[in-house]
Amino acid sequence: MATERTLSIIKPDATKRNLTGKINAKFEDAGLRIVAQKRIQLTQDQAGQFYAVHKERPFFGELTEFMASGPVVVQVLEGEGAIAKNREVMGATNPADAAPGTIRAEFAESVGENSVHGSDAPETAKEEISFFFSGLELVG
Ligand code: PPS
Repeated sequence: MATERTLSIIKPDATKRNLTGKINAKFEDAGLRIVAQKRIQLTQDQAGQFYAVHKERPFFGELTEFMASGPVVVQVLEGEGAIAKNREVMGATNPADAAPGTIRAEFAESVGENSVHGSDAPETAKEEISFFFSGLELVG
């Protein structure tokens, strides 16, 4: 399997509860390497740009308001099959459906406040990484 990079976000519900280290340990234990990371505060407008693909969905306002409600940690994870591996470690979007041991099963509070985001495909990973990082910030 090829080495890939994927964009991960530790969401405000998790940064508020001081869970960044515990979540990062889950990624590292799964063999993913954090090759870039920064803690930032998004505006609702910026969150809307990032989630533009969901702009027609009924929860768009709630989602963007939540993503601007506190700091997020944006990061690039690297590893063999990193996109699928990250999604496996995160667990299902709705924590009620997430497999035991996954980040969302352990930490998420609801389908909206679900602690982490991860890119879903190579093309979106590329776009989402460049939304937050320049090439110079990726240190493998
Ligand atoms: S998926 O995996 O993309 O198919 O999941 P989806 O259900 O389409 O959800 C996309 C993102 O929207 C968030 N979401 C919500 N936010 C607030 N309120 C409600 N009701 C809600 N439902 C879904 C969900 O956490 C997904 O966020 P990301 O960051 O993409 O995982």
